[in-house]
Amino acid sequence: GKVAVLFGGRSAEREISILSGTGVLAALKSRGVDAHAFDPAERDLADLKREGFARCFIALHGRHGEDGTVQGALELLGIPYTGSGVMASSVAMDKVMTKRLWLAEGLSTPRYVRLAPDQQSPERVRAVPDELGLPLIVKPPREGSSIGVTKVQGLGDVDRDMQEAVRLAARYDADVLCEEFIEGEEVTCAVLGQGADAQALPVVRIAAPEGAYDYQNKYFTDDVKYHCPAGLPDALEQEIRTLALAAYRSLGCRGWGRADVMIRASDRKPFLLEMNTSPGMTGHSLVPMSARAVGIAYEDLCVRVLAAAAL
Ligand code: DAL
Ligand code: MG
Repeated sequence: GKVAVLFGGRSAEREISILSGTGVLAALKSRGVDAHAFDPAERDLADLKREGFARCFIALHGRHGEDGTVQGALELLGIPYTGSGVMASSVAMDKVMTKRLWLAEGLSTPRYVRLAPDQQSPERVRAVPDELGLPLIVKPPREGSSIGVTKVQGLGDVDRDMQEAVRLAARYDADVLCEEFIEGEEVTCAVLGQGADAQALPVVRIAAPEGAYDYQNKYFTDDVKYHCPAGLPDALEQEIRTLALAAYRSLGCRGWGRADVMIRASDRKPFLLEMNTSPGMTGHSLVPMSARAVGIAYEDLCVRVLAAAAL
């Protein structure tokens, strides 16, 4: 039957979703799937039903797409969709909720302070570095692609930098997440499948010049180098895959996902940063890179994710 590739949307990651969705659409078509573009920012989701779409490939990122809202609408319409269900999508969209869940499960994630809207006074913000140390990361809990993220270095005027960082993050979300900075290597680990059949793909190591793995360099330059295989010792590669799988299962993810992880330099302990339930599928994205390393071409990856579409 007809497949709608949902992309665009109205989150701050719209531009990235268009890159992902354009790639997925072309890939599915090239494999003979009767796939059509559908932008929920411009259309009524109920049209999917009226126009006889049998399944949806969700290539939306961020809120109103990756966060359980579109998933809920598709549940009501009775149209199977790719990726995680409503609950896993909405919990994973929120980095604070995700951390609470991972901590309850004993999975390692950097220490954090959540600043609710009534906790963003200059005095409260000033106290955060005492709790988390410096440098630290300030981010909106429900965004992606590094949007609204600041690394507060702890050089110069820390208080001014903290106030600015919180103000920036608060432009994107009501809550602000302050997180201990893990000095070390940044890696990511994709997971495919569901339940007992879920499996982690090879780890990708991200080699960015200091502080440069930002929105621009994630998608629009070639300044960042990616390594897959990651070149890590076997035991560490396995530890990260096991951690990513546990992180995925604890959230109840389905279909596919990608855990972002920091490896602490001092002891090589991995820390989970977040789970992406609608991972990027752009030319610079990491799940396709990891899949390729095990012989799964971009097109095959799209077909495989689509085949797991469910309600
Ligand atoms: N949020 C972007 C799309 C990613 O994680 O790939
Ligand atoms: Mg993300």
